[in-house]
Amino acid sequence: MELSQRAAGLSGSATLRLAAAAKEMAASGRDVINMAVGEPDFHAPRVAREAAHAAIDSGRVKYTPAAGLLSLRQTLARVAGEARGVSYSPQNVVVCHSAKHALSHALLALVNPGDEVLLLPPVWGSYDAQVEFAGGTATHVAPLPGGSCAPDLKGIEAAIGPKTGGIMLTTPCNPSGYVWSKEDIDGLCEIVLRHNLWLISDEIYARLVFDGAEHHSPAAHSEAMKERTLLVEGASKLYAMTGYRMGALVATEKVAKAVGNIQSQLSGCPNYISQVAYESCLESEPEEVAPMIAEFDRRRLVITEGLERLGLKGPTPRGAFYAFPDMSRYFGEGRDAGDFCADLLEAEALATVPGSVFGAPNHVRFSYAIAEPRVREALDRLERFLKTR
Ligand SMILES: Cc1ncc(COP(=O)(O)O)c(C=O)c1O
Repeated sequence: MELSQRAAGLSGSATLRLAAAAKEMAASGRDVINMAVGEPDFHAPRVAREAAHAAIDSGRVKYTPAAGLLSLRQTLARVAGEARGVSYSPQNVVVCHSAKHALSHALLALVNPGDEVLLLPPVWGSYDAQVEFAGGTATHVAPLPGGSCAPDLKGIEAAIGPKTGGIMLTTPCNPSGYVWSKEDIDGLCEIVLRHNLWLISDEIYARLVFDGAEHHSPAAHSEAMKERTLLVEGASKLYAMTGYRMGALVATEKVAKAVGNIQSQLSGCPNYISQVAYESCLESEPEEVAPMIAEFDRRRLVITEGLERLGLKGPTPRGAFYAFPDMSRYFGEGRDAGDFCADLLEAEALATVPGSVFGAPNHVRFSYAIAEPRVREALDRLERFLKTR
């Protein structure tokens, strides 16, 4: 039996593969520090855990509407709208199995074979695969030179051709931690409107901003941009609910309906228990969230100071929970970031992700969603390792 070309051309997520390798190494008895995966080390909020338990005991764990529970869609519409100063209705919302799922189904709803989608590296590795799986072609537009990862708006506009359908944006950015400024967002929105494009705005890290940075959503730019923006939300990062698998797409009624139809045929309704748990977090802010964000900020300072001490330069992370230094001078002759990360894992049991996964081959990504003492220990291990290079 032959695989379809679509499946044969797809490789699994490199980040998840590395995280799995790290877990396997840990299972064999090594004290592995896993900075490969962007997974908060906190418990899900108490309200979410209680709601999940109560849901199981209620006997109501059944199919829900394919687009999700109406009450959750109402809550998401309210919360997503209030946070951005715009107004949404439940018809604009589809509850998805995760943010990843919302992204892939949004692309299936928008991309025709041969359409081009602009990606703005460094960029989360799954975007390329998802665009191609939907039949499109991903085109990368590099950021401005200088290492800050600020977007090159002129370069973005110049890259738009007759087949360009839309752009994918992540702010705050995984992997660089770059937070798009108001000017960046306004400039991008004007390009989107001028060229009649759509914009997928992955805002899964929207609340994880530090150092005075503010999150700006393109949906807040204007009514016209609200119509062109497909907003992606998720429970994994802000509520440390990675295993619950909950996300959402917020878009025009037409797009939301199409995504709901795709979901109803391809995957069916999202998990009832997780929907109830997600809703409990959205209804009123869980008490764990503010201290968790403050803790990420402390870890961010520890890792950025530590990397600086080692003479490693990278974009200053002001959002999400990743550091992304340029480590190319340590790769060695004829060797790349992948080899470097493999050697680091083998020698020091420190798991990281090569920048090539994100379209930035000179860099290495460190997730600091792990406890502060482990971040410090990781820096010690890294220092020891670099001395051997
Ligand atoms: C930018 C970005 N979008 C989406 C996701 C996926 O999140 P989820 O756990 O909801 O699939 C991630 C996870 O790392 C991410 O970094």
